[in-house]
Amino acid sequence: MNPKPWLKDLKPYPPGKTLEEIQRELGLEGPIYKLNSNENPLGPSPKVISALKEALTEIHLYPEASYKTLRSALAKRWNLSPENIILGNGSNEILEFVFKAYLERDDEIIISEPSFLMYEKFGEIYSVKIKKIPLTPDFKHNLKGILSSITSKTKAIFLDHPHNPTGSTLKRREWEEFLGELPQDILVVLDEAYGEFIEDEEVPMGVEFLKKGYPVLITRTFSKAFGLAGLRLGYGMADSSIIDILNRVRQPFNVNLLAVKAGLAVLQDEDYQKRSVELVFRGRKYLSSELSKLGFKVYPSQANFIMVDFDKWCESLYEFLLKRGIFVRPLKAYGFINCVRITIGKEEANKVLIDKIKEFLINFK
Ligand SMILES: Cc1ncc(COP(=O)(O)O)c(C=O)c1O
Repeated sequence: MNPKPWLKDLKPYPPGKTLEEIQRELGLEGPIYKLNSNENPLGPSPKVISALKEALTEIHLYPEASYKTLRSALAKRWNLSPENIILGNGSNEILEFVFKAYLERDDEIIISEPSFLMYEKFGEIYSVKIKKIPLTPDFKHNLKGILSSITSKTKAIFLDHPHNPTGSTLKRREWEEFLGELPQDILVVLDEAYGEFIEDEEVPMGVEFLKKGYPVLITRTFSKAFGLAGLRLGYGMADSSIIDILNRVRQPFNVNLLAVKAGLAVLQDEDYQKRSVELVFRGRKYLSSELSKLGFKVYPSQANFIMVDFDKWCESLYEFLLKRGIFVRPLKAYGFINCVRITIGKEEANKVLIDKIKEFLINFK
């Protein structure tokens, strides 16, 4: 049987390597600092671990079909109604629902170039036209450029905010101008996978625009600030009419029972949430300041990672760190040839990283 013709050349999403893969490939024995996939360095919340232990005796049962309990807890958090919330197997699945429910072949979506790779991948899988608008020179979404490239075929705009991989954000006023000028029949997907790490009060939460009636779908994840990447849990927030349509393409039981229990437990663990976010705030300041002092360009980030330009040293420094068990994400695939993305780690990891970079500079610069 032949696959759909447009899938023949599709390259799958290149995921970050796991700890075991790194260890096996490099034969490393000492500690490994995994700063390549924007995961939560704290490990899971203790409340999640005990909730999961308890839930293990129930895994022969299907989860609650409506997911009403978790949707209600999320609705309460955002002061919305459960009808405004849909759950996904990671926020990636919510993104895919948009393609399944709204986008036909030859419809057009607009994304920034570069941005989170899955918008493009889903575009390729569902054979929709993808218009890519380059970031502004300071590496932010080019909202004016996006507005002027809208055509009658444009159905949806996908924007990660904070942006991956730069960590850049836009101010409330900029978003309001953009949404005010946007035709009402175009859906804006605001991907807030890193929304919990926004510190700047002038940077809005997408839910503000939802409450003002703009046509937005906000996607959020439990993979980052909530430390549940391995369980795959995300959610979308939108007008109930949109959620109703997305629900029609959702498989029954798309989110597994353990993910639901873990999600409920971590939502109640305010101490863990606070520790996660504060660790990032502190580490982001520390790494940005230390790396700038060493003469590298660090891009301002409101996410749990920073993008750093290592200039001509990029490849050799990347290899140097790798051999010493420090794993960061090279950004060649995103078009930033001399840059890497570094996930903010625990204090010790951040310090080891800086020490190793200093060691490199003494020996090789
Ligand atoms: C911008 C962005 N959106 C969405 C996701 C997907 O997250 P999830 O684990 O919820 O599928 C990621 C994951 O890294 C991301 O960086």
